[in-house]
Amino acid sequence: MTTREQCAARDAADPLAPLRDAFVLSDEVLYLDGNSLGPLSVGARRRIIETVDEEWGRGLIRSWNAAGWMAQPTALGDRLAPFIGARPGEVVVADTLTILLAKALIGALRLRPDRHVVLTDEVNFHSDLYIAGGVAALAGRPIEIRPIDRTRLDEHLGPDVALVMLTHVDFRTGEMLDLAGVTRRVHGAGALMLWDFAHSTGAVPLDVTGADVDFAAGCAYKYLNGGPGAPAFLYVRESWQGILENPLPGWLGHARPFAFEPDYEPAPGVQAFVTSSPSVIALAALDGALEVFERTSLDEVRAKSLALTDLFIELVEERLAGVVEVVTPRDHARRGSQVALRHTESYGIIQALIARGVIGDFRDPDICRFGFAPLYVRFVDVYDAVEHLVAVIEHEEHRDPAYRTRNPVT
Ligand SMILES: Cc1ncc(COP(=O)(O)O)c(C=O)c1O
Repeated sequence: MTTREQCAARDAADPLAPLRDAFVLSDEVLYLDGNSLGPLSVGARRRIIETVDEEWGRGLIRSWNAAGWMAQPTALGDRLAPFIGARPGEVVVADTLTILLAKALIGALRLRPDRHVVLTDEVNFHSDLYIAGGVAALAGRPIEIRPIDRTRLDEHLGPDVALVMLTHVDFRTGEMLDLAGVTRRVHGAGALMLWDFAHSTGAVPLDVTGADVDFAAGCAYKYLNGGPGAPAFLYVRESWQGILENPLPGWLGHARPFAFEPDYEPAPGVQAFVTSSPSVIALAALDGALEVFERTSLDEVRAKSLALTDLFIELVEERLAGVVEVVTPRDHARRGSQVALRHTESYGIIQALIARGVIGDFRDPDICRFGFAPLYVRFVDVYDAVEHLVAVIEHEEHRDPAYRTRNPVT
């Protein structure tokens, strides 16, 4: 069995270990929830303070021009493009993920007027399912949103399918789908592909160009550490720009916003998908949060992510065989950067772990979720987390009556 000393030796040899200093993290807490909310970074904190004190405080309205506020959505989009293998000019940062999915869904349905089915995953993140239903109601023609068992996608791909919307890494199980393979099959049926990269961006290298993805969106508050409620990003392949319409046009997606013209004319490129004023302070936070990624590569991040999750799975299987079930695939090609464990008392287990300073989260009905963000999680953290997990279960700490009532955020 791997010992704590061996884990410490792996940390000492880890090229990513120095990056932990880029985060405001206390050693009292073992943070395994960066797949849900990334921690505050030194860069984000500095950029928020600069933006508030200098740009807003002193610069006032002049900062729209002088500090480049207006260009933030596309400038940050260009910074995010390499995270998903996109080219400059193909990504824009705005709104939130659900809203961007709505924009892409409505726009894509207009590109396939002769088809009426949208396929999605029956276990997709709920917001994706809800917004798809909302989009169908707004489409102005009968649209069928069909949640399917994603392993049976080929059986559903037919001439009536306009669009397929899937989440690349499953939010519960951490299972990762085959980006290029699925996109190819969808295109083979004449349908368009929209990916949700919420649980992939910043943890897994992605290649939307190589995979010929049509549209994708993701959030910035998980592995990108952009802060709670950080604006999201939308990818529109260059060949769709000028064709895909923003169904929620607003002045900042207009070709000439300050001409105040009564008729809408979309701006060229991805700027057209901006509707409203950018959320300047939140975008500054994201800008600062991305600095740490300049000190590494996504390949290095991915290699460490797999090493951390391999170690966690190995230790859990050794120490808790028959007690918890590892739900996340062992196969590297099918694993994101989180590990999900199944236990009938998962909610209590997570609460008891949090009481010990080990922060993971619970996903209904029976999943304990642990995220392994390679920029700051150490191999000893993995070892210690498993020690705590074993102790919680052995001492039945999870059965504390205090954990019978669930918090609103689990
Ligand atoms: C897979 C997935 N899709 C969509 C969302 C919703 O994101 P937002 O709150 O930015 O709309 C989340 C949020 O965690 C998510 O995990």
